Amino acid sequence: MDVIDVIDVIKNRRSIRKYKDEELEPVLIEKLLQAANWAPSAGNSQPWEFVVARDEFAKKISNEFYKFAKEYIPSAPYIPEKEKQRMLEYSKNFGGAPCHIIVSYPKLEDNFKREEALKASCAAIQNILLQAKAMGLGTVWIGSRLNHSEKVKEILAMPEDRLIAGIIPIGYPDMEPIAPQRQSPDLKEKVKWMGF
Ligand SMILES: Cc1cc2nc3c(=O)[nH]c(=O)nc-3n(C[C@H](O)[C@H](O)[C@H](O)COP(=O)(O)O)c2cc1C
Repeated sequence: MDVIDVIDVIKNRRSIRKYKDEELEPVLIEKLLQAANWAPSAGNSQPWEFVVARDEFAKKISNEFYKFAKEYIPSAPYIPEKEKQRMLEYSKNFGGAPCHIIVSYPKLEDNFKREEALKASCAAIQNILLQAKAMGLGTVWIGSRLNHSEKVKEILAMPEDRLIAGIIPIGYPDMEPIAPQRQSPDLKEKVKWMGF
């Protein structure tokens, strides 16, 4: 068996915003969900739940995303001007991603416990992104106000006591993005070594 260095998967994973017009076999999606389910969680609470959406459900979600995108992309300071038209185009259907995984966590009363549940669910999301990369699939982690949209929860028939940690469009990538720079790639400004 070839040994794949995890750091290679981590570094080569990119947010994919254009997908091939190709369906994803459910067996592949199940593998991604397995990876998610092996994420760490506080007290092994495993607070995550998943919705896998395609066809009209995926379309309805991306319609909601497009509504937000039309508002924020034109004035977003972090998106270069020359990228804005392309970003708007991608927002119409997440670049043609055939399927989305929506990761949710419980709306716990206690702030601390709710935050712990969100952290674990984010670990589950990252597992999906990395497993997908290792399988030659593309993903993008969608946060934004879409995660707080009552309309999206309604489309997904999500119970009132769940919150969305992230929406992950998935498919076969039809682009190879250049890696966006990391601030302080040598980590000089990001790390404080103590006691060394
Ligand atoms: C919490 C979170 C929310 C994000 N929300 C969005 C989003 O709404 N739309 C989008 O296109 N990308 C979104 N991204 C992807 C980031 O833009 C992307 O990870 C970042 O630009 C670095 O690029 P890379 O993933 O290719 O390394 C999000 C990522 C995270 C972790």
